[in-house]
Amino acid sequence: MPDRILVTGGAGFVGSHVAEFYAERGTDVTVVDNLSRADTLDTADEARATGAYNWNYLQSEYPDVDLVEGDVRDAAFVEDVVAGHDGVVHTAGQVAVTASLSDPRTDFEVNAEGTFNVLEGARKADSDPAVVFASTNKVYGDNVNEIPIRDEGDRYWYDDPDFEAGVPESLSIDQCEHTPYGVSKLAADLYVQDYAERNEIDAAAFRMSCIYGPRQFGNEDQGWVAHFILSTLRDEGLTIFGDGKQVRDVLYVEDLVRAYDAFLSDPEGKSTVYNVGGGVDRTTSLLELLDLLEDQTGKRTDITFDEWREGDQKVYVSDVHRAKHELDWEPRISLSEGVSRYLSWHEDCEAGL
Ligand SMILES: NC(=O)c1ccc[n+]([C@@H]2O[C@H](COP(=O)([O-])OP(=O)(O)OC[C@H]3O[C@@H](n4cnc5c(N)ncnc54)[C@H](O)[C@@H]3O)[C@@H](O)[C@H]2O)c1
Repeated sequence: MPDRILVTGGAGFVGSHVAEFYAERGTDVTVVDNLSRADTLDTADEARATGAYNWNYLQSEYPDVDLVEGDVRDAAFVEDVVAGHDGVVHTAGQVAVTASLSDPRTDFEVNAEGTFNVLEGARKADSDPAVVFASTNKVYGDNVNEIPIRDEGDRYWYDDPDFEAGVPESLSIDQCEHTPYGVSKLAADLYVQDYAERNEIDAAAFRMSCIYGPRQFGNEDQGWVAHFILSTLRDEGLTIFGDGKQVRDVLYVEDLVRAYDAFLSDPEGKSTVYNVGGGVDRTTSLLELLDLLEDQTGKRTDITFDEWREGDQKVYVSDVHRAKHELDWEPRISLSEGVSRYLSWHEDCEAGL
């Protein structure tokens, strides 16, 4: 396990859980964030001041965590702040496909250049930090939609035995349509691989599927599981883009953080890319999640259907075999348990939201 960890994007959903995981274990934690989430997502929950919610949470629960306001686009700042750490989890990012379509330059600068800055910072640091990069399944672009699918009623599913276990890391990443978000994350993902393959640093890109859990303020642009839960709890109507039969594998955030830690604790000789998600055992369609929410909350919010969104994947399920074998990792929390934990968290802090 690293002794001094830097978490970029630590005021975000995933980053704050990484910071909490290490703070709980007594590791020195530095968090960097520019607190931009609420400003950059059209549908962010500004009225509820959620942009700084996780920052304030870390500040009050873990006063020893060093919170540094800063921007990963600033190379000199990044080089400075990386120095002295032996592990970096880079989650800072422009996170929404929608925002990448309307402002591709910011998307590029934050995701591609910001990651490059982190890698350069790590390469120059005497402390030799290993780096985990929060990549995404979107790097596979429209190649995912080349896999034949069948309609199984409330969900689509792969209709090709080669993909029974999900999408492996070997699926092609190019010669297909992407989105600016997919491309900026892919550029970053390739830089991570390159720095690791040339032995400049130990590093891996974790191509994440849908991650969910407490303290996630999902909205129409990003974080759909939390968005569905919050909309249901608040009796706010939901728009489903497409027919709701699209399927995702979903992973509870603490399971993801254990995978990161398995890599950082013993990075030598490991792969440079991992698909991480709930895998075939933790999948849901949008419609099925609404059923589960109705079971657990007794509520079903109003649904409106709209056109499919650009770049949407009908089925995406991660093949997590590589992560399981090499990192001796496996998801522990079922979707039903994860949703129930989200609901408990929400109930505990409802007054503050
Ligand atoms: N949540 C998911 O399901 C999911 C899936 C695939 C990939 N990812 C990737 O994981 C990472 C974390 O996602 P999340 O769900 O926690 O999102 P999030 O929006 O909650 O967290 C991202 C954080 O990065 C910060 N940030 C943005 N631009 C920055 C900059 N220029 N400098 C410093 N900080 C900046 C934001 O303020 C925010 O706190 C992102 O890189 C995202 O692309 C997430």
